[in-house]
Amino acid sequence: KQGGSDAAKRAAGEAAAETVEDGTVVGLGTGSTAAHAIRAIGRRVDAGLDAVGVPTSFQSRELARENGIPLADLDEVSVDVAIDGADEVAGGDLVKGGGAAHAREKVVDASADRFLVVADPSKETEALSYPVPVEVLPAARSTVAERIEALGGDPDLRRAERKDGPVVTDNGNLVLDCAFGEIADPGSLATALSTVPGVVEHGLFVGLADAVYVGSEDGVTVHEP
Ligand code: A5P
Repeated sequence: KQGGSDAAKRAAGEAAAETVEDGTVVGLGTGSTAAHAIRAIGRRVDAGLDAVGVPTSFQSRELARENGIPLADLDEVSVDVAIDGADEVAGGDLVKGGGAAHAREKVVDASADRFLVVADPSKETEALSYPVPVEVLPAARSTVAERIEALGGDPDLRRAERKDGPVVTDNGNLVLDCAFGEIADPGSLATALSTVPGVVEHGLFVGLADAVYVGSEDGVTVHEP
């Protein structure tokens, strides 16, 4: 979901970045809101903060490098706090993957002691309804699509904007955007999607968020689901 103002995204990202403590490892999310957090952490590192980042995507790795944040992989460190955006937020449940980065995001965000979501008010909703991005092995594209239809979803292969053909993820896979209408029970749908052979990861993040920072032009509200 897009449409929130950049000022709101910046307020959320910068507020979450302020909470990063000295000597800690930070999961670096993907997308325009998390990018504000990465830039703010970079400024704090420049001013002497001792922090190491674990990127969730090609994009966040590149941005962290440009901003001087030392980096490590998950097999070298464990994450104290992860800061990441979302496409839709209902309480503590999220849909992510609008940037096709949700597989690594989920690994990093779920491993963190604390996972902070950064969002603008346009992302908040009562019930999730954003089409769920599902990363699939290329060879399983049709079989997964059939299983998703059987679950009541409408799968749509994500196509690239500046290339003829599909979006290929950082992991070399494809993405099916799967509309389910309003998702009454995100937990059951998440479990059902996870059991489909060929699904690498889906964008439902159920009960993972420890806090949601919602920015606006006037400040930031923090919800703890
Ligand atoms: C990346 O795949 C997504 O999970 C992003 O976290 C999500 O799309 C949020 O992006 P914005 O902050 O740009 O809205």
